[in-house]
Amino acid sequence: MNDSRGGVSPDMLGRAKHVITTKVDILLLGSGGREHAMLKKLAESPRVGKLWVAPGNGGMLQMAEKADVDPNDPEAVATFAKEHHIRLVVIGPEAPLVAGVADAVRAAHIPCFGPSADAAQMEGSKEFAKKVMEKAGVPTAAWKAFTDQAACEGYVRELGGPCVVKADGLAAGKGVVVAQSTDEALAAVRSCFEGAFGEAGSTVVVEEMLKGPECSLLALTDGKALVPLAASQDHKRALDGDLGPNTGGMGVYSPVPIVTEEELDQMAEIERRVLAELHHEGIDYRGCLYGGFMLTKDGPKVLEFNARFGDPETQVVLSRMEADLLDVFLACDDGTLMNEPIDWKEKWAVSVVLTSAGYPGSYEKGKRITGIEDAEALDGVIVYHAGDALAEDGSLVTSGGRVLDVTALGDTFEAARDLAYKACDLIDFEGKTYRSDIGLRALRGRGAWEV
Ligand code: AMP
Ligand code: GLY
Repeated sequence: MNDSRGGVSPDMLGRAKHVITTKVDILLLGSGGREHAMLKKLAESPRVGKLWVAPGNGGMLQMAEKADVDPNDPEAVATFAKEHHIRLVVIGPEAPLVAGVADAVRAAHIPCFGPSADAAQMEGSKEFAKKVMEKAGVPTAAWKAFTDQAACEGYVRELGGPCVVKADGLAAGKGVVVAQSTDEALAAVRSCFEGAFGEAGSTVVVEEMLKGPECSLLALTDGKALVPLAASQDHKRALDGDLGPNTGGMGVYSPVPIVTEEELDQMAEIERRVLAELHHEGIDYRGCLYGGFMLTKDGPKVLEFNARFGDPETQVVLSRMEADLLDVFLACDDGTLMNEPIDWKEKWAVSVVLTSAGYPGSYEKGKRITGIEDAEALDGVIVYHAGDALAEDGSLVTSGGRVLDVTALGDTFEAARDLAYKACDLIDFEGKTYRSDIGLRALRGRGAWEV
């Protein structure tokens, strides 16, 4: 199977396994489909003890207890973890990482999955990430950063055509505009400097526009070893045919049939060079390094780095992972990752995101969800909960834009895709919206991106 081969090198397989004899109570921070997928995978480990979540979602709260703690408050998380004898804190989203939650938890001598605030700048500042890439000599789009609006507008006019405008800081996935014209780019620059993204937009990065299929390569690292996970491909645009505005991700599959072995090696090598550069700068990166790549005619080029697992990439990657996720997370924290082999199920995974009508714009909440049990009764289907909540009567209602990630495993890509859509049909809530073409382009082969 065309897969990332990370985790199967002989020296990784030969060594002693991580041994934990006592049960490990876990606090998992976050509330998306990514966190539900992590929680389900962690729960498979025989050594998992009590599961806590903050804040969690409808699906997560069916299997874990809610921790009354602000996930973005480093000291509060560390104190909660100490008081409740938590032996592993897992950080799903970027905001707690950038806020320094991992630092506070580790300072309290509690194992943590997720990088320090220093390391999380790879996601928290696009300018920081670009500088690291430049120093590491890895391929990425040509770029310039500006804190002055007039200078930035001057540069956009000088480029005189398509370009990409990015708010430097965290903007919940909304800070990037792929502008087809100078006017569109200028409007994006103005909106950043006029405060659309607050402080995150006070520095603006302008980039050359790259062309090609995208590919996500998530990798685990303990600061020294880097183990690439299986490659995956997200669908960022809201509408069929890759039209409409960018979203957090509308559907995903893994592995990626159109990616070559050579490209997989190149992407992993890029990540290793970035990790080595961070190490050289005295930054100890432990957790998931997520490389977002464009597979250009000149080879893979980096679009962005994230300091966490992808959402919805995690849903397909962890559905196929054979390894014990608890072992893997603890190994990332304590520097023994090399001891952890990672194998993959010989299956294809496709996940379709069911959203509330209107997403990524405004949408209504509180709609009753039905049919999840019927969908999961299909062999090979897992429904990860994202933007949902438990109503007082215990029923599930919508509470976010991306509501459910309907995920299917199959022996072929087509089988997994067909099964995912069959399961989507069985689930219902008012305003249920989804793309009907997840994976369709990949089925047509690499040529489908040549237009
Ligand atoms: P980012 O958050 O930087 O990954 O950007 C979000 C999305 O914008 C990416 O997944 C791409 O679809 C698109 N994008 C970002 N940078 C570029 C670029 N240099 N060229 C073309 N598309 C881009
Ligand atoms: N799926 C895109 C992300 O997690 O950033």
